[in-house]
Amino acid sequence: MASHITKAVIPAAGLGTRFLPATKAMPKEMLPVVDKPAIQYVVEEAVNAGLHDVLMVTGRNKNALENHFDRVAELEATLEAKGDLAKLERVNESTGLADIHYVRQGDPKGLGHAVLRAEMHVGDEPFAVLLGDDLIDERDPLLDRMIEEQLKRNATIVALLEVDPSQIHLYGVATVEETDEEDVVRVTGLVEKPSRENAPSNYAIIGRYVLRPEVFEILERTEPGKGGEIQLTDALQEMAGDESIGGVYGVVFRGRRYDTGDKIDYIKAIVQLASERDDLGPELKPWLKDFVETID
Ligand code: UTP
Repeated sequence: MASHITKAVIPAAGLGTRFLPATKAMPKEMLPVVDKPAIQYVVEEAVNAGLHDVLMVTGRNKNALENHFDRVAELEATLEAKGDLAKLERVNESTGLADIHYVRQGDPKGLGHAVLRAEMHVGDEPFAVLLGDDLIDERDPLLDRMIEEQLKRNATIVALLEVDPSQIHLYGVATVEETDEEDVVRVTGLVEKPSRENAPSNYAIIGRYVLRPEVFEILERTEPGKGGEIQLTDALQEMAGDESIGGVYGVVFRGRRYDTGDKIDYIKAIVQLASERDDLGPELKPWLKDFVETID
């Protein structure tokens, strides 16, 4: 039976090696995207989709994450004494946003291993997984659509994005069949980071999942795959072939997504989001135009 989904799991225990040295003492999920850490956008997205119970899987630098969602009495008192209520409001936005729980991953043995750490907390119900590497524009809801499909099909749901063939080697890629819904495909197979020649389609998996709890039992026996890590994609591959647990379906996302997982895309995300903001855009956009003139 399909049940109501209330829990979100946010893995944030990766080493973030692509951002060293910024991530030497801080999780990459804490890197600011304009003026909010990536993780806050992700928690807000979960809450907006009705998921108020959030489990963060943390690694060695978990303090910054916990502190960000906690109260900071001295800071609040100082801003209050100064009468800077606008900043006080910004500071308090992340406090009390959701019911946030934490679990340690210990060794970062891969995304699949991080998800497995959520087993105790999640129990025997479907749940969402959100990665801080992908920011989904709040104007283009994706998670709601995925939850809707999960409830309807009682399957495992992934988010798919059509990417340029030159970028396909960076993603988990799905073999798909059409369904009776224009934005939903059935996933019949998955491959992690294929070469352009071997990619079965241009449908790349992005960092949103609504998983059936059987994923835990599968992850427990999933051997380390690509890069010596326990890959979520490998478990999904098995789930795709198993009708008894509903198979895997992909919701094709055509909205705005900002990739913050690697440096160049992170920079693009900041420029794009800042130029759309009322408080920053009017100053940033003319400067950008002038700056572009100076580039050969
Ligand atoms: P990535 O592979 O993109 O993250 O994992 P990474 O390993 O931190 O980054 P690089 O490649 O070294 O720069 C995708 C997501 O899964 C989490 C990461 O925190 C990120 O949100 N993750 C990954 C874990 O929580 N644990 C892991 O063992 C691996």
